[in-house]
Amino acid sequence: MQRITVQTTPIEGQKPGTSGLRKKTHVFMQPHFLENFIQSIWVGIGGVEGKTLVLGGDGRYFNDRAAQVILRMAAASGAKKMIVGQNALLSTPAASNLIRIRKTDGGIIMSASHNPGGPKEDFGVKFNTANGGPTPEELTNRIFEASKSVTAYDIVETQDIDLSQLGTTELAGMEVEIVDPVADYAALMQSLFDFGAIRDLLASGFRLRFDAMHAVTGPYAKAILEETLGAPEGSVVNAVPSPDFGGGHPDPNPIWAKELMDVVFGEGAPDFGAASDGDGDRNMIVGRNIYVTPSDSLAVLAANAHLAPGYSDGLKGVARSMPTSRELDRVAAAKGLDCFETPTGWKFFGNLLDAGRVSLCGEESAGTGSDHVREKDGLWAVLLWLNILAVKRQPVASIMTAHWEQYGRNYYSRHDYEGVDSDKANALVDALRGKLIHLPGQDFSGLTVESADEFAYDDPVDGSRSENQGIRIGFTGGARIVFRLSGTGTVGATLRVYLEDVETDPSKMHRDAQETLANVIAAADEIAGIEAYTGRTAPDVKT
Ligand code: G1P
Ligand code: ZN
Repeated sequence: MQRITVQTTPIEGQKPGTSGLRKKTHVFMQPHFLENFIQSIWVGIGGVEGKTLVLGGDGRYFNDRAAQVILRMAAASGAKKMIVGQNALLSTPAASNLIRIRKTDGGIIMSASHNPGGPKEDFGVKFNTANGGPTPEELTNRIFEASKSVTAYDIVETQDIDLSQLGTTELAGMEVEIVDPVADYAALMQSLFDFGAIRDLLASGFRLRFDAMHAVTGPYAKAILEETLGAPEGSVVNAVPSPDFGGGHPDPNPIWAKELMDVVFGEGAPDFGAASDGDGDRNMIVGRNIYVTPSDSLAVLAANAHLAPGYSDGLKGVARSMPTSRELDRVAAAKGLDCFETPTGWKFFGNLLDAGRVSLCGEESAGTGSDHVREKDGLWAVLLWLNILAVKRQPVASIMTAHWEQYGRNYYSRHDYEGVDSDKANALVDALRGKLIHLPGQDFSGLTVESADEFAYDDPVDGSRSENQGIRIGFTGGARIVFRLSGTGTVGATLRVYLEDVETDPSKMHRDAQETLANVIAAADEIAGIEAYTGRTAPDVKT
C-alpha cells in the first residue's frame, strides 16, 4: 500500500449547484475530475485529517468506483474514520441521519438525485455538514474556489475494499466501518410514527403500492413497509436499486412514475400509492384516483402532523421554498404558526431547523421533511401520510376535499422548459428583471399585477443574504407566477415557471389545474416572452 501525491491542474466547471456537483457521468469519470473535486472538498472543510465522515450513494453507475476513490483519498489525507453504507449505498436522508447520530464531521453522498443514471447520464457528489444538512452557500463557495487552484491530491494505491461485508476494516491507518444502510433509519422512523396504528391499517385491508423506481429506497421500503409494517410482499415494486434505474428517470412525478399512476387510477386500484426518487429524498403521494401535488401534500402534512407521535406536541413553525404554493401559509395562519419563505434548495431550511424555529418544511419539487434529519425525506413523508390515514380512516380523496374546504385550495403547476440555450434563458431573465418596476398595475390576460420583485432572502438565524433567487409576480386576487432558472441541470438551462391561483369556493375544488390556470399561464408568456426568447411553444414537462 503506497500513499502517493498526484499532480493535477484545475478543471473548469466544478461549481456546485442547488444540490452538490452534478455532471454527465463521463465527465466525472475523466482523469482527475472526481479527485479534484474531492480534494476541493477537503480544502473547503479545512482538511479531512483526523475527521470522521459518512459515505454512501444512491447506487447509480460509477457509485461503487467513486466510493473506492473517495476512501483512498480520505485515507491518504489522514481521515480518522469513514462510516460507509454497505455496498456504498445510503439514501440521502439515511446519510443525514447517520451523520447526526454518529456525530461525524459530515458526509459525502454520491448522487444526482432524480436525474437518470448510467454511462451516458448523470452522476453527482454532495457534501453534507455535521448537522446532516447540505453545504451552506459559504462552504460551497470555498469548495468552488479551491477547485480553481487545486494542483495536487493525495491518494493511497491499493486493492479495492470489499464494501459488501458489514464490520470494521482498515485502510492505510484509517478505520472503515461498513454499516447496514437501513437499520438506523428504520429505527428513527419507528420513533416518529405509530407503527402499531399503521400495522392495523394495513391489516384491515388497506392496500398500498410503493414504487422505488429501481433506486435506493427499495431496500428501505421493503424493510419498513413490508417486513416491519406487514404490507403484503409485492407492495413495494421496482425495489432493487440498479445502476441505471432500470433505464428510467427516477423522479417521482406523474410523468416519470406513470406506471404507478396507471395502477392507482386503474381498475382495482390500491388505496394509496407512493414513490421516491434516486436518492430517496423526494416523494410522490397518490390516493385512489387522486394525485396529491407536493404543495398540497405539504399543507396537509402541516395540518395533520400532530396525529403522529413524533409531532403530537404540535409544530414549532413551518417553512416552504419560495416557489412552493402558498396553501401552507393559510394552514400556518389558522394554527398560529410561523411560516418562512426560503430560496429553492434544502440547505436554506437548515438554520431554521437547527434553531428550532420550524419543525416541518417542504418544496414544490416533491420534497418534504422535518427536523428529524436535515434533508428532505421521501419515506418519512409516506409514513407520515400512512400515520394520518391510520388515524383518520378516510380515503385520500376525502382528506383532500375536507382540507381544501377548510383552508382553500391553491391550484398549482410548474412548467419546465429544458435544455434551453443558456444565453437565451439568461436574456429572458435579464429582460424580466429590467421591467419589474413597471409591472405593478398592468394587466395581462385579465390579471392585474399587484407586486413584482426578485426574491432575496435574509436568513433570520445567521443574517446571511442570498440574492437572485427567482422573480415573483403577484396578482390581485392571489394568483402568482414565479420564474427561475434551475440550478441542478447538466445541459443548457432549464427555465422553471411556477403558476398558482387560490380558490376558496367549495363548489370549485375539483377542477383541472391546467384549465383553471389558463389565464395565469397566458400571462406568464405575455410577461416574459417565453416563446419569443426560447422558441418553445409548450413546456417539456408540466408537474
Ligand atoms: C431542483 C428543485 C429544488 C430541489 C433541488 C434538489 O432544483 O427545484 O426544489 O431542492 O432540485 O432536489 P432546481 O433544478 O430547480 O435548481
Ligand atoms: Zn433526490
